[in-house]
Amino acid sequence: MPRRGKFITFEGLDGCGKSTQMARLADVLREQGLHVVTTREPGGTKTGEKIREVVLDSRTLGLDPMAELAMMFAARAQHVNELILPAVHAGKWVLCDRFTDSSEAYQGGGRKLGSEAVLTLHRVLCHDLQPDLTILMTSDVAASVERARRRNTRKKSAKDENRFEQENRTFFQRVMHTYHLIAKREPQRVAAVNARRPIPVVHRDIVRIVRERLLTSTK
Ligand code: TYD
Repeated sequence: MPRRGKFITFEGLDGCGKSTQMARLADVLREQGLHVVTTREPGGTKTGEKIREVVLDSRTLGLDPMAELAMMFAARAQHVNELILPAVHAGKWVLCDRFTDSSEAYQGGGRKLGSEAVLTLHRVLCHDLQPDLTILMTSDVAASVERARRRNTRKKSAKDENRFEQENRTFFQRVMHTYHLIAKREPQRVAAVNARRPIPVVHRDIVRIVRERLLTSTK
């Protein structure tokens, strides 16, 4: 089946401002008359959101890294088949907060499982679906993690999504390092954006990248 819509993913460390930027891009694309769907991982479907509750909850103790990877992919396989592929085939633009690069960075790099296991699972379980564009938001490890921790202690909801934020700085350094390796390996797909700047400046950069790489070829 031909892909008629587009699939854009956002990546980066916790607290780098992905969600804000994704929402702003969605507004711009909607103003252009495009049908936009925003979603996130882990999650995005009913089943995926249940998996998210387990895998992000800091009360989930002693989770084996391989089990963690498998849970990320269980949620993703459901997401790809139930939501992402049908939407893209129907001509929609799907914006997704995190995708397989997160597994490669966090489980492959952070947990030291390596890239090969992640990429193999992606081929087997997710039809090797590649985003048309990935926005990698680069930020300082210490500042991002600090912001994410503050944000989560402020949250009033009963939801606990802190399991990853309890990791130490060297974990997040491995995550960021792996992100940079992915960007170097696949420059045609991954665009790095410096997220250390004010929100409107980062937003303008992202819109420019989307225009240059995707919007000119849609007509
Ligand atoms: P997210 O909701 O994007 O949190 P934040 O807004 O803090 O960035 O992601 C939740 C966490 O899940 C985040 O710490 C990264 C982790 N994660 C993985 O470790 N592997 C994955 O494959 C995905 C999708 C997320």
